Amino acid sequence: MAEPPLLDVEDLVVEYPTAQGPFRAVDRVSFQLPRGGSLAVVGESGCGKSTLARALVRLLRPVSGRIVLDGTDIATLSERRLRPLRRRVQMVFQDPYGSLDPHLTAQQIVAEPLRLSGIGDRAGRARRAAELIDRVGLPSSALHRRPPEFSGGQRQRIGIARALASRPDLLVCDEATSALDVSVQAQVLDLLRELQAETGIAYLVIAHNLAVVREISTEVVVMRAGRIVETGPTAAVLASPAEPYTRALRRAALDPTTIRGVKPRHLLTTTAREGTRS
Ligand SMILES: Nc1ncnc2c1ncn2[C@@H]1O[C@H](COP(=O)(O)OP(=O)(O)OP(=O)(O)O)[C@@H](O)[C@H]1O
Ligand SMILES: [Mg+2]
Repeated sequence: MAEPPLLDVEDLVVEYPTAQGPFRAVDRVSFQLPRGGSLAVVGESGCGKSTLARALVRLLRPVSGRIVLDGTDIATLSERRLRPLRRRVQMVFQDPYGSLDPHLTAQQIVAEPLRLSGIGDRAGRARRAAELIDRVGLPSSALHRRPPEFSGGQRQRIGIARALASRPDLLVCDEATSALDVSVQAQVLDLLRELQAETGIAYLVIAHNLAVVREISTEVVVMRAGRIVETGPTAAVLASPAEPYTRALRRAALDPTTIRGVKPRHLLTTTAREGTRS
């Protein structure tokens, strides 16, 4: 029998309350991610990628469906029962400004998840944080600086170091390399691949840059208006995309203006649902 997947998402529904009633941002999404595997989620702006990511790490509580992590359904677990599992799934956020505490030093930020999980002593945690900050390519002078003193790309790397600190089984990366210039992006992708080879960590990567998707993921899921519209091995989906969005995304990837990771806004269509919300 095949080994059960690390993550098994089934019929996941996530809604936001709005003045017009609940808005369904993720609509019956199902997929699996094997242990040590890597899956990319792509789709136009507003299709629900970040909402899906936030539900997977249980920053949002889904309305229905299952999120089975290593045999335990975490979709509706209470905060108390979730606590021991939090270490195992970490997230790198799309917005590196809002997600780092501006009052802490980089070293404290990276050590924070270890402190919260009660891992190691103070000195050990500081050592591990310094190691990780070096690993993501920041100089040791970064250790004692605070988020406002870093560039967007540097903040993003601190977010990655923090997410890796507790040695998670699954890392959810929401546009984790978008703010980085191409050489730093390549460096971070190399790091993620190295770590995967070393530790068998699994990745769920949200990216709009198909070069990144190709580099990091073996499987890809294409979302539109909260639903999965296309899925399969990355090479196959990108070679012969069935969906108009995937085709457009692929065309944009060949366009030199998108090479530096500029989001192809000209492609992004407003969904009918967005009109009903605001
Ligand atoms: N707090 C909220 N309340 C109401 N609606 C929301 C909220 N957050 C997001 N939405 C809506 O849910 C939908 C999905 O948003 P989400 O942020 O998941 O999209 P996304 O795919 O990550 O987009 P992008 O590529 O721009 O980051 C959008 O239509 C968005 O406007
Ligand atoms: Mg998003």
